[in-house]
Amino acid sequence: MPVVPCVRAARERGEEVRAAIAERDLLDHGHEITVEDGWLYIPITDPEAVAENCESYDVVERGVATRRTQRTPADILGFSPTYERLGDVVLLTEEDPERAAAIAEAVLASDLPVGTVLRRASKVAGEHRTREWELLAGESTETTYREYGCEYRLDVREVYFSPRLATDRHLVAERVSAGERAIDMFAGVGPFVVPFAKRGAQVVGVDLNPAAIAYLEANARRNGVADRVRAIEGDVREVAPEFENWADRLVMNLPHSAAEFLDTAVELAGEECVIHYYDIQHESAPFEPGEAAITAAAGRAGYEATIEERRRVRSYAPHELNVRLDARLRRE
Ligand SMILES: C[S@@+](CC[C@H](N)C(=O)[O-])C[C@H]1O[C@@H](n2cnc3c(N)ncnc32)[C@H](O)[C@@H]1O
Repeated sequence: MPVVPCVRAARERGEEVRAAIAERDLLDHGHEITVEDGWLYIPITDPEAVAENCESYDVVERGVATRRTQRTPADILGFSPTYERLGDVVLLTEEDPERAAAIAEAVLASDLPVGTVLRRASKVAGEHRTREWELLAGESTETTYREYGCEYRLDVREVYFSPRLATDRHLVAERVSAGERAIDMFAGVGPFVVPFAKRGAQVVGVDLNPAAIAYLEANARRNGVADRVRAIEGDVREVAPEFENWADRLVMNLPHSAAEFLDTAVELAGEECVIHYYDIQHESAPFEPGEAAITAAAGRAGYEATIEERRRVRSYAPHELNVRLDARLRRE
């Protein structure tokens, strides 16, 4: 029997606890709830999120049976479709409209807790970096998504958000210490801001998109870190004078255009500052253009730049990579 994380609850409280976990979308539908010696073992998908959100629950590791009744979209279709899940919204990249409609139908007929299916209808575009979506099933494009113990509310039509960057964001957040001063120059709904603040940093998140800022404020409250977060709507170049020489850490996730904002980044940087710089470049030299741009901007402002990490985050398009450079700036 597979050993999986479960919440252990007294049998008489079992239904109440199960319902509370299901409401937070943390039930592991792939395994059976098991009863033993008056205790219920309720399989869960994310023990960290349960510990954060339901502190009184007892999380244990337990051998439980695999659930045979759960039907996946692949069971219904006879092939494994490609899709991403963001809470109760499923996102499709399928180009063939008939195949997309069949996948949407199978997703809804499956046991996935999904209410809406969307299909990409454009590339990410414009200053807000949003895309158009075709609604294949359901109504709402607003959802709640969980990532490494944090919870984000967002509308996929209104704001940029990519679950594909979750691991990389987590790697970055793990470097943050309590008391640090950090700025996410292109903050979106807060997937860097919120985990940084959870680790005790003072964080400023700036974004041009008013919808992103409204979600960022709500997400800071939702995760109990509003007292350490300042969300500012505007162009980071105009916001920068207020935070001149302030930051210990900067996040620049605006691939394709980040180089244009490096002079703003050095304006925000304190005496010593780490910049997490995201870029999209050809696989033959994915880091070189970013390194050159960072070194030049640092030099212009009297900093020495040391590149501390070069990471290939994911493949973006054929022969193009999304990469992250971490640069430490020290005032000369
Ligand atoms: C690629 S998204 C990144 C969002 C978030 N950091 C994340 O990882 O999900 C870039 C964000 O930058 C914002 N943006 C674009 N230009 C900006 C500017 N000049 N000043 C502030 N925000 C900007 C967009 O509205 C968008 O939300």
